[in-house]
Amino acid sequence: SKKAVLGPLVGAVDQGTSSTRFLVFNSKTAELLSHHQVEIKQEFPREGWVEQDPKEILHSVYECIEKTCEKLGQLNIDISNIKAIGVSNQRETTVVWDKITGEPLYNAVVWLDLRTQSTVESLSKRIPGNNNFVKSKTGLPLSTYFSAVKLRWLLDNVRKVQKAVEEKRALFGTIDSWLIWSLTGGVNGGVHCTDVTNASRTMLFNIHSLEWDKQLCEFFGIPMEILPNVRSSSEIYGLMLGPWKVCQYLGYGTGCFLLCNTGHKCVFSDHGLLTTVAYKLGRDKPVYYALEGSVAIAGAVIRWLRDNLGIIKTSEEIEKLAKEVGTSYGCYFVPAFSGLYAPYWEPSARGIICGLTQFTNKCHIAFAALEAVCFQTREILDAMNRDCGIPLSHLQVDGGMTSNKILMQLQADILYIPVVKPSMPETTALGAAMAAGAAEGVGVWSLEPEDLSAVTMERFEPQINAEESEIRYSTWKKAVMKSMGWVT
Ligand code: G3P
Repeated sequence: SKKAVLGPLVGAVDQGTSSTRFLVFNSKTAELLSHHQVEIKQEFPREGWVEQDPKEILHSVYECIEKTCEKLGQLNIDISNIKAIGVSNQRETTVVWDKITGEPLYNAVVWLDLRTQSTVESLSKRIPGNNNFVKSKTGLPLSTYFSAVKLRWLLDNVRKVQKAVEEKRALFGTIDSWLIWSLTGGVNGGVHCTDVTNASRTMLFNIHSLEWDKQLCEFFGIPMEILPNVRSSSEIYGLMLGPWKVCQYLGYGTGCFLLCNTGHKCVFSDHGLLTTVAYKLGRDKPVYYALEGSVAIAGAVIRWLRDNLGIIKTSEEIEKLAKEVGTSYGCYFVPAFSGLYAPYWEPSARGIICGLTQFTNKCHIAFAALEAVCFQTREILDAMNRDCGIPLSHLQVDGGMTSNKILMQLQADILYIPVVKPSMPETTALGAAMAAGAAEGVGVWSLEPEDLSAVTMERFEPQINAEESEIRYSTWKKAVMKSMGWVT
């Protein structure tokens, strides 16, 4: 059997929209020692609605932790070396639960859900003062994407939620809060908190004062007593089963998100990007902000081809299909399933596949789906370049999709800059583990760059010429225009 690994280990729960993972890293080398992944169901009760079961999410976390620990045992690694656990999660997804029974009062309303479109329209007519009221405080456009309107919908439409609020039994949280409360004891004293990054996506949080904003809560009609305590992104929140401390969470990761760290400065975008809290690595540490380009559907388009059209059986098969043709043959796929997010913020858009001929087959559609991820990334990158004034020299990527080499090459071709991919694609989870390991009172990881020496990089250089890249991109833009205004 393998030699036991000595030294402190740190775990990370990565609870994304499509799956939950638990990963364990060696804090000395950043090496990923073991992990386990479980896919999460999504329910679509009506057109545009997207829900998930909070209890399934919680159980998937337990299952992943259990299976990862079993695997570590098989490697002769003592799980008592795990000194802390960080959490990284799908943001904005909204849960309300009963603190006395521990039961969720409704399904989680997922960030992609569009049911609040009319709420957003009526609220936008009532914005006090100038139109900048929400954006200047939160960095966000008034959109179905963020938690405040989802919570408003639950308060207006779910009797159980209304009753629990009246009886002072209701707690609101994004997935991080729901998990941390449950993992730290639930009805027996669970800690009700969130971190500044997740709070900054609720549309209730003032990103300058780093507090819940009374005026915003009044505007959205949200009772402040159901909101979690806001903490930094790297500190001990509570104790979990066993000796583990839950210490960190940063919300990120079905979609595609491009972030640019703007330091301590809150930069507001003129090109459809969000201003968001990037991190605050400790109670007394300074806050960092980021400009973010958010694309709702990236990896999710592959899942749709698998689950809704059945043209692939596993997500990995997409690469084989795309490789067979090496081109979309003039087919363009705009996966605006949840409207379009950055840079358009157009809820009226819906998905389209266009440019079809009798020659088009499933391989071309597969290829067009991959290209859609790249074109959408190009749009947010262009917006970022305009806002920052300095063009990005290369794009660093992570996540499950980066194992698809065709996608990586296409991305470099369409951006016309190199794409750099780490050998270990789970850098989101690694970041969560590092921040947990570095928390005061844990101190097994320092956040110095040399600590990442175990992560090597692979580079994809653009291979087509710039002119060809531009022609493809401008045809994509035509397709995007056709997807808009579909729903009135
Ligand atoms: O804002 C939504 C985002 O946090 C979702 O992340 O990893 O589920 O695509 P992911």
